[in-house]
Amino acid sequence: MSAAPRPCDGKPPAATLWRGHADGLLRALPGHSIDLLVTDPPYSSVDRASSDGAHLQRWFGGSMGWPEIGRTLRLARSRLRPTGLALVMVNQAGLEAALHAVRAAGFAEPVRVITWDRRWPGLGGGLRHRTEYILVGRLPASRPLAGEDLVSVAAVGPGTAGRYPTQKPDGLGRLLARMAGVRRGDTVVDPFCGSGALLVGAAERGATVIGSDISAAAVRLASKRLAAAAPRPPSSLEGRRRPGAAGASRNSARGGTRPTKGTRR
Ligand SMILES: C[S@@+](CC[C@H](N)C(=O)[O-])C[C@H]1O[C@@H](n2cnc3c(N)ncnc32)[C@H](O)[C@@H]1O
Repeated sequence: MSAAPRPCDGKPPAATLWRGHADGLLRALPGHSIDLLVTDPPYSSVDRASSDGAHLQRWFGGSMGWPEIGRTLRLARSRLRPTGLALVMVNQAGLEAALHAVRAAGFAEPVRVITWDRRWPGLGGGLRHRTEYILVGRLPASRPLAGEDLVSVAAVGPGTAGRYPTQKPDGLGRLLARMAGVRRGDTVVDPFCGSGALLVGAAERGATVIGSDISAAAVRLASKRLAAAAPRPPSSLEGRRRPGAAGASRNSARGGTRPTKGTRR
């Protein structure tokens, strides 16, 4: 079991990144404290036999099966506010198992599925995938989700400089934050945050964002990305970055923050 994570500077900042196991973070959060959980778990339905799979294996300390992810989602559900919502990403290979995991975690039926059009296909031979999915875990009193069940945002290309493996586009996080009506004062959590991309939109809308990852490289990247995500008006969100936003200062995830030893950051 992971040690309970603690914020790197002890203050309750607008963005907090933890290095450690997702369950450790979720256990440390009080019940009824999360407004939105948005995450892209390290599911093992990624083809790890492929060269891309071997690359991912080097980056990620490990992957998880959907039954295990389901147990983490159950823990997350126990930390959601009654009006809270969970958005969980999966590819086509894992869709059935992920739906089962979301149901087993106790979310309400029907589990809705948002299709993400990545605008260009993934790598590999045969029938290449241009779509991924976002499962909507709802509670009986969950906030409504606006928009449509097909979203189109360009995926992060494999040639993108400094790209984190499986990095999602910031624009997708922005769109999901808008659909979920994220606003200042909300708490938005990604327990498998990777580069932090899915938290950017929520941070820009003034939410308190919290992420965790077992990878030190991921936490470093997420720190940089979220340090640049200054709150700005919801109307100007999607698909644009504000020039000069890098000076944002409310984040504990400022680039200058150094990781401490062990699982703390
Ligand atoms: C699919 S990636 C997330 C990518 C992220 N959405 C992005 O856009 O960069 C999954 C992440 O989960 C992390 N991970 C694996 N096992 C974990 C665990 N038990 N707890 C927390 N993070 C974990 C991996 O290091 C990886 O960064």
